[in-house]
Amino acid sequence: MTSTASIVRPTPVVRSGHAQLSIILKESEKSTLQTQIFDQIRTMILNGQLRGDDPLPTTRELSAQLGVSRNTAVLAYERLIAEGYIRTKPYVGTFVSPDLPDTAFLSTAAERPAAAPLANQPSPEGETLKSLRTHRLATMDRRRLAADFWVGRPDWRSFPLKAWSHHIKARLKSAGTRLTSYNDPAGLLELRQALAKHLAPARGVVCDAEQIIIVGGCQDGFNLVGRLLVSPGSTAVVESPCYQGAAFVLESLGAKLHPVPIDRDGLDVTKLPHEKGAVAYVTPSHQYPIGVTMSLQRRIELLSWATQYDAYIMEDDYDSDFRFVGSPLTALKGLDRNERVIYLGTFSKCMGPGLRLGYVVAPPRLVESFRRMKMLMNNGQSWLEQAAMADFMASGEFGRHLRRIRQLYRERRDALLGALHKHFGECEIYGEQAGMHLVWKLPEGFPTAAEVEAKGLAAGVGVCSLATGSALRFGTNDDGDRLLMLGFVALTEKEIEDGIARLAGALKG
Ligand SMILES: Cc1ncc(COP(=O)(O)O)c(C=O)c1O
Repeated sequence: MTSTASIVRPTPVVRSGHAQLSIILKESEKSTLQTQIFDQIRTMILNGQLRGDDPLPTTRELSAQLGVSRNTAVLAYERLIAEGYIRTKPYVGTFVSPDLPDTAFLSTAAERPAAAPLANQPSPEGETLKSLRTHRLATMDRRRLAADFWVGRPDWRSFPLKAWSHHIKARLKSAGTRLTSYNDPAGLLELRQALAKHLAPARGVVCDAEQIIIVGGCQDGFNLVGRLLVSPGSTAVVESPCYQGAAFVLESLGAKLHPVPIDRDGLDVTKLPHEKGAVAYVTPSHQYPIGVTMSLQRRIELLSWATQYDAYIMEDDYDSDFRFVGSPLTALKGLDRNERVIYLGTFSKCMGPGLRLGYVVAPPRLVESFRRMKMLMNNGQSWLEQAAMADFMASGEFGRHLRRIRQLYRERRDALLGALHKHFGECEIYGEQAGMHLVWKLPEGFPTAAEVEAKGLAAGVGVCSLATGSALRFGTNDDGDRLLMLGFVALTEKEIEDGIARLAGALKG
């Protein structure tokens, strides 16, 4: 006989009617049923499926679930208690011990079975992928900093929490079958309509809601576009330096990266490859990481290159909601007359990356392929967040939110420019006209950006060299070592002033 219980990790808040444990008992096994239960719960604790203070089913629930006698469950629990893996709280229940000895965690390398190589490693040969760092590594220790000029994070205090919870609650009330159904993989129509309405005046992107695919942020969008347009050995043009999140995806799909240098006018279009069928990933509005804006002349030349060489352009318009000088520039997509541009936008910067919501505007002839690929990848995004975002946009609150944070971020940018000037005199600055970070080219005689970053960290101030700021460089024959990235939107003006004063003190010291 085989007795199977369904999977589910118990959530710590459950106090009665506990979630079931995934335990499979086999009568053919040499070990007793009690030992099998003991071993399997112990393994779940050791490999982290069950964590400290997670509740366990009662022995009565467990025996009913597994079809064993209550005594078998009691004996298994008693052994787990005796060895310190679990404990009982009188009248409350049985829980995983919160303070397991260190030795309990994870088996040693010798005990672990050898892992079979993955069939599909993200292109292990890829040169640039070797520098990939996971988020967990990148975020280590930053919470301890007195001021963190880390890039790419919006101000958490400005998240429109009240309106957001209102829309979430309202949608939950009227959800009907929406949460229990599969919805359109391309995304909620109301959100796509709201976006089409927003993008025309805001970015000059005139499109139909049908052309929009809702994705889990730009990163999901890079994967979607990459899976459609990249084949092993094909060429992917990237800016040099560029945003690593996109370059790594393209490389992991087998593309050969073709870096094209950036100057004050953006991408140097004279260095584009003369070959057919490439994909070009660009950030024309606020180049990542340098911050320059691609000139109109260059935009037109890039578009004609794409038409001539049958290439597609991935336009990443990640932070274009924030333009502090003049009117917003029309996106490259707004100039595209030959269906060469795939536009990627995100709510990560204007709302928050925790939402994981973004959008891709596909050229009409590719829409069906995009829809199908999105279905293959993940069948679409969460209905609830899309619905709340659609309502937030349709009610006009999104527009007001943007105006409010744009003003706030402008003041913070001014505070940063003022503080840099006060403590360091004339500074060579790039990218201050838009976006959420600017770049300071450190003067001759200064330590390198990596050294400034290290000294800053020691003094409790976080600043980013290109490597820390998720930028990817190709070679070292440029000014990259002297470029320091400073995100300014998540700090108050006072925090900015104090932070730069501290940094100046650390560098003088
Ligand atoms: C240039 C650029 N593009 C895209 C992204 C990713 O955004 P998302 O959160 O939408 O995946 C980032 C994130 O920092 C970015 O800097």
